[in-house]
Amino acid sequence: MTLSQTPPRSEADWLAVRRRMLLDDGLVYLNTGSYGIVAREVFDRVTELRRQMQSNPVDFLWRRGGELLRRARECLAEEIGCEPSQVIFTDNVTTAMNLVAASLRVKGPGEILLSDHEYPAVRFAWERAAQQQGLRLRYVRLPELPGSSEEIVAVFARHLCPATRILFFSHVLYTTGMILPAWELCQLARQNGVVSVIDGAHAPGMLDLDVTRIGCDFYGANLHKWLLAPVGAGFLYVRPGMEDRILPLTVSWGWYYDRAKAFQWNQFGGSPWQRSFEFAGSRDVTPWLVVPEAVGFLHKLGWQNIQARQRELAAEARSRLDGRRGLRLATPTTAGLSGAITAFRLPGTATDPQAVRSALWERFRIEINMIEHAAGPWLRVSTHFYNSRHDLDMLAQAVDAVLA
Ligand SMILES: Cc1ncc(COP(=O)(O)O)c(C=O)c1O
Repeated sequence: MTLSQTPPRSEADWLAVRRRMLLDDGLVYLNTGSYGIVAREVFDRVTELRRQMQSNPVDFLWRRGGELLRRARECLAEEIGCEPSQVIFTDNVTTAMNLVAASLRVKGPGEILLSDHEYPAVRFAWERAAQQQGLRLRYVRLPELPGSSEEIVAVFARHLCPATRILFFSHVLYTTGMILPAWELCQLARQNGVVSVIDGAHAPGMLDLDVTRIGCDFYGANLHKWLLAPVGAGFLYVRPGMEDRILPLTVSWGWYYDRAKAFQWNQFGGSPWQRSFEFAGSRDVTPWLVVPEAVGFLHKLGWQNIQARQRELAAEARSRLDGRRGLRLATPTTAGLSGAITAFRLPGTATDPQAVRSALWERFRIEINMIEHAAGPWLRVSTHFYNSRHDLDMLAQAVDAVLA
């Protein structure tokens, strides 16, 4: 099958695409929510770039890297809906969020408003920011299985108060996969003079992402999950006008630059302002450089096609697992509120969630995540295009055995 000419449609077509991924044959991989699987051609490209880098690092990093970085930045910006000048490459979304949390200064005393489903490691960064600046964290308890996005916006609106300085939320929740109405929430923030920061870890490669339209101040994300770039590729989008509100986490050669030329592109593949964040000492930038290849691979399959496949498999997961051995669907089915992550609450009889996860791996070679949270625990099923109905059959059978 030639991908560029015949977009995959049938199960057999998708299985052919699956063979183009670096995915072990016997593995049931339902954990793209943690890490995506890289296409062989993307892996080959990053390996080739690494070979070039290691065979003459000076030539690669000092002379040729800038042009490759410019190409990657332009591709990423187009993909996420912003100008190339507004995007900073990072190793991952944790770094992107830390960068904002560690340096954004707001007027105290005040509050950071965030949902109660934020990824713990990133929440810790806000906890530290709050401690350092004398701010309070106020949590919004998200509704379980809301029927509409208005319901979600309403709970945030109820918690927003004159002391709110920062609104922080995940675009796609790591817990249940619920999608939050990013545009509406950022509008709420803007109307109240509040800075909006989004953790979009799961959005690129799952949602039609347009950060400019969303209207947030800062948007960080991973490219190594659903966009299928190698581990080591993430970004931070900064709304025009907010550039001076953040500082690099690591001070290095990019620190001093001519402020009059802060936003002029140079031979380093971006502006001096961008370089001040990206140049964190000697590092391997090859995961950033193959973003065009990762994006190109997905585009050959067709975005609409990929999204349809992700959602079709999510619907299959719901129909096979909801009610099975006491599992209960925890992800809304309302259009717009769910994507390619589907979660199921474990029955009360499963008192050791991690033992369930281990059994799925050790006995059935099923790689899947178990999310522990005050409102959980949840079995989290991630369905990317390389998953199959067969994977979900295997999971259903394994659930029968493990939760029996
Ligand atoms: C919502 C969310 N934020 C942040 C992260 C952290 O990602 P990373 O460790 O790649 O920075 C994850 C990882 O699963 C996540 O789900």
